[in-house]
Amino acid sequence: MGYVKLVFLMLFSFLCQLAFCSSLSHLCLKDQALALLQFKQMFPIDAYSKLLSWNKSIDCCSWNGVHCNEATGQVIELNLTRCGLRGKFHSNSSLFKLSNLKRLDLSENDFSGLLISPKFGELSSLTHLDLSYSSFTGLIPAEISRLSKLHLLRIKSSSDSLRFRPHNFELLLKNLTQLRELNLDSVNISSTIPLNFSSYLTTLHLADTQLYGMLPESVFHLSNLEFLDLRHNPKLTVRFPTTKWNSSASFMELYLYSVNATGRIPESFGHLTSLRTLELYSCSLSESIPKSLWNLTNIEDLNLGDNHLEGPISDFFRFGKLRWLSLGNNNFDGQLEFLSFNRSWTQLEFLDFPSNSLTGPIPSNVSGMQNLQWVRLSTNHLNGTIPSWIFSLPSLTDLDLSDNHFSGKILEFKSQTLFSVSVKQNQLEGPIPKSLLNQSELYYLLLSHNNLSGQIASTICNLTKLLVLDLGSNNLEGTIPLCLGEMSRLLILDLSNNSLSGTINTNFSIGNRFIVIKLDGNKLEGKVPQSLINCTDLEVVDLGNNELSDTFPKWLRALPYLKILRLRSNKFFGPIKDSSTYKFAQIRIIDLSSNGFTGDLPVNLFENFEAMKIISEKSGTRKYVADMSFFYYTNSFIVTTKGLDLELPRVLTTNIIIDLSRNRFEGNIPSIIADLVGLRTLNLSHNRLEGHIPASLHQLYVLESLDLSSNKIIGEIPQQLASLKSLEVLNLSHNHLVGCIPKGKQFDTFENSSYQGNDGLRGLPLSKDCGGDEGVPQATTPSGLDQEEEEEGDSSIISWQAVLMGYGCGLVIGLSIIYIMLSTQYPAWFSRMDVQLEHKIVTRMKRYKKRN
Ligand SMILES: *[C@@H]1O[C@H](CO)[C@@H](O)[C@H](O)[C@H]1NC(C)=O
Ligand SMILES: *[C@@H]1O[C@H](CO)[C@@H](O)[C@H](O)[C@H]1NC(C)=O
Ligand SMILES: *[C@@H]1O[C@H](CO)[C@@H](O)[C@H](O)[C@H]1NC(C)=O
Ligand SMILES: *[C@@H]1O[C@H](CO)[C@@H](O)[C@H](O)[C@H]1NC(C)=O
Ligand SMILES: *[C@@H]1O[C@H](CO)[C@@H](O)[C@H](O)[C@H]1NC(C)=O
Ligand SMILES: *[C@@H]1O[C@H](CO)[C@@H](O)[C@H](O)[C@H]1NC(C)=O
Ligand SMILES: *[C@@H]1O[C@H](CO)[C@@H](O)[C@H](O)[C@H]1NC(C)=O
Ligand SMILES: *[C@@H]1O[C@H](CO)[C@@H](O)[C@H](O)[C@H]1NC(C)=O
Ligand SMILES: *[C@@H]1O[C@H](CO)[C@@H](O)[C@H](O)[C@H]1NC(C)=O
Ligand SMILES: *[C@@H]1O[C@H](CO)[C@@H](O)[C@H](O)[C@H]1NC(C)=O
Ligand SMILES: *[C@@H]1O[C@H](CO)[C@@H](O)[C@H](O)[C@H]1NC(C)=O
Ligand SMILES: *[C@@H]1O[C@H](CO)[C@@H](O)[C@H](O)[C@H]1NC(C)=O
Repeated sequence: MGYVKLVFLMLFSFLCQLAFCSSLSHLCLKDQALALLQFKQMFPIDAYSKLLSWNKSIDCCSWNGVHCNEATGQVIELNLTRCGLRGKFHSNSSLFKLSNLKRLDLSENDFSGLLISPKFGELSSLTHLDLSYSSFTGLIPAEISRLSKLHLLRIKSSSDSLRFRPHNFELLLKNLTQLRELNLDSVNISSTIPLNFSSYLTTLHLADTQLYGMLPESVFHLSNLEFLDLRHNPKLTVRFPTTKWNSSASFMELYLYSVNATGRIPESFGHLTSLRTLELYSCSLSESIPKSLWNLTNIEDLNLGDNHLEGPISDFFRFGKLRWLSLGNNNFDGQLEFLSFNRSWTQLEFLDFPSNSLTGPIPSNVSGMQNLQWVRLSTNHLNGTIPSWIFSLPSLTDLDLSDNHFSGKILEFKSQTLFSVSVKQNQLEGPIPKSLLNQSELYYLLLSHNNLSGQIASTICNLTKLLVLDLGSNNLEGTIPLCLGEMSRLLILDLSNNSLSGTINTNFSIGNRFIVIKLDGNKLEGKVPQSLINCTDLEVVDLGNNELSDTFPKWLRALPYLKILRLRSNKFFGPIKDSSTYKFAQIRIIDLSSNGFTGDLPVNLFENFEAMKIISEKSGTRKYVADMSFFYYTNSFIVTTKGLDLELPRVLTTNIIIDLSRNRFEGNIPSIIADLVGLRTLNLSHNRLEGHIPASLHQLYVLESLDLSSNKIIGEIPQQLASLKSLEVLNLSHNHLVGCIPKGKQFDTFENSSYQGNDGLRGLPLSKDCGGDEGVPQATTPSGLDQEEEEEGDSSIISWQAVLMGYGCGLVIGLSIIYIMLSTQYPAWFSRMDVQLEHKIVTRMKRYKKRN
């Protein structure tokens, strides 16, 4: 009987444990529940918090994020990732009483500015510790190295605010011998990589960690390694093993962007037969790709962009599973005919070959690329027509064929998901296809520098997300659609150099974001639309070379960021004088030349050119006016300086120009111009100016080009002007100047043409002698000195041009993602983008916005 009772009791307690009684008994230990509640108290808890379930009257083992050892009731796992915790907890926190924790995840919270407590080192049972993206800062304590049972350690940071004391990284690797995964992305490690790695390591993330020195080859021989990410460590020198890597069989993903690799890709890569991702972007790699690489038949993502690799592109078809292929900024050549081989890449989503030396046409008989979304072949030597299969791609998102030799028409697009289309700088003709104006996701449309014809349909305004509309340098005709001014997101409107006619009736509505408006080089008539005043972000307005007939649009002074105003070659008329105070505080280039302006030079205008009163630069980084290169748009600009029309790919903020030439201005040259010390070019020629040249102009000591020709200026050339040591071009011809031409410095370089048509001028270089002994010292000037100065002048011109030309493409991965990223719709492919790069772009973008 007693035996039966015992069995019954045992059975009961067993069942009880199984189910019935679990709600009755408190698994959770009191002290542990208390510790958790105290921890919770450190943070404000709102109605959506996951910690709401942390309630005394409920068993703590069933609280959100808490797991207990069922036998002992001890809390062994605390997973508070993305719990919205904001605030701080210190070394005295009850968290550290949970001494049996095996897994602790505090990632993606906001403990802004909190140091990582050395107390973490006392949680000696930990196998998993994740403190990523939670705004911890400061030194990572050496005590973390005590956690010798760790399998996983993640402390990746989103800023550079976490760092290691020297040697602590080494200590960590030495002691954590069980590690499977180590992730310290964006922690400032600033050390060499020591030799000791846990042999269990499968995943190693050390991107952007300021590592330097030589990467030990042993890393490539970790026999379990599957994932290695050392991106953005430019001082880390990487030598790949030339023999078979011990990790060959396991290796699946290798990311080595921007490390110091140099040299060729060794044959040994051919052994990494499991490799799915190989990214060796910007690693200074050169020569051709080893044949052994074609063994890597499992590759899905190959990025060899921004190196010096060469060889024919046709071999790449051997990678049958490719989804992402990025080879931009290399020296690959050959033709694209391999795209039409039978074994087509049905998986391919991303085809990226910009800035290589590809030739010939894109083959027309390509099929099966149903998944292709990105086609980026810009800046090559491709020619022929754009084949219809490209236009038929059902999921095409981004098409960049710019800067090639394509001819023929732009066909109708099948895709409804276009995000960016750039075919600028080709020889395309025909109308703008209707299907382009029917896209709800189009952010960039760049068709400039082709031979497109027809009108701009007003349905273009249906592109409500458009940021950049660049239709410049085509043969478009008709009028400018009225509705363009209502496009509330458009930053850039470039319709320059077409045959557009009629008046600009466009009504620019309040709240728009225009930064650049270029309508120059058309046949536009009438007045400058008053509604431009609604474009409060405007930096560049170019209405030059039209037939506009208006008085000076002085009301533009209300645009606080206006930097370039170009009205040249129109029929503007009347005086510019105005009694109210002008505020063109940011203006850098004002070009009113070749119009019918009259009256005195506008002193009150000059007075308010605040930006011209500063000589910035010389040191520091160069800045450009309305630099839109990151919106794919080249903000090129024609400036007239030194007697030449120069097209600058972008305009330095220091390139300060006043051009009031070819008008009917009269009166004296106001000496206040001398306050505009940043001036590089001053052109007042072909007016009716009288009086003397103000001696104060010698203050313009960065002035490079001064043209006062064809006026009625009298008196002598002030001797002080000889101190203008940057002056490269001087034109004082056709005035009534008299006396001796100043000597020395730049004045020794000017020729007759600078002075001709002034009967009263004497001295070198004119044949009329200035008399006396003044001419003699010139002859004794050591000729070496002259030469030196000449050379200096030359080299400065060269470097200036080099800067203008040094306008690289750099970013292979589309910059276009920024907007997708900023708007909250992350497409699936976004997660595959290089987050580091995006981060930089977004930061830059924010900076740009903030400035406005
Ligand atoms: C805990 O839960 C009980 C019953 O569900 C509820 O009445 C009480 O308000 C909760 N306490 C807190 C602090 O949320
Ligand atoms: C814990 O330490 C912090 C700062 O070191 C202090 O402000 C706080 O009062 C301490 N809390 C307790 C309960 O001792
Ligand atoms: C915490 O939970 C998330 C899912 O909610 C999981 O992805 C993560 O791996 C967990 N952390 C740890 C350290 O186990
Ligand atoms: C290394 O780990 C052991 C425990 O395994 C510990 O006693 C020792 O203090 C650790 N060393 C450092 C430097 O943290
Ligand atoms: C990283 O830390 C080192 C010193 O440890 C410091 O010199 C360097 O400026 C830091 N780098 C960054 C980007 O914070
Ligand atoms: C660390 O590397 C040294 C040689 O550099 C070796 O002697 C030592 O055994 C290694 N330690 C561990 C734990 O692997
Ligand atoms: C890159 O590696 C080369 C040796 O291959 C070395 O001479 C050079 O200094 C390294 N550059 C940097 C920035 O470490
Ligand atoms: C590769 O692994 C083998 C066997 O595990 C070992 O003997 C050899 O030393 C390893 N080679 C390297 C370079 O680490
Ligand atoms: C890789 O390909 C080369 C020839 O291209 C061949 O000799 C070699 O055996 C292959 N290696 C592997 C591991 O398949
Ligand atoms: C394309 O360019 C090649 C030279 O690269 C030339 O032989 C061919 O005639 C061109 N085709 C067209 C249609 O312009
Ligand atoms: C485009 O806008 C016009 C009005 O300007 C409207 O009638 C038309 O339906 C719109 N088309 C699309 C596709 O939204
Ligand atoms: C500015 O835009 C509003 C509509 O947003 C318009 O009513 C107003 O006329 C515009 N201002 C000027 C000066 O045209």
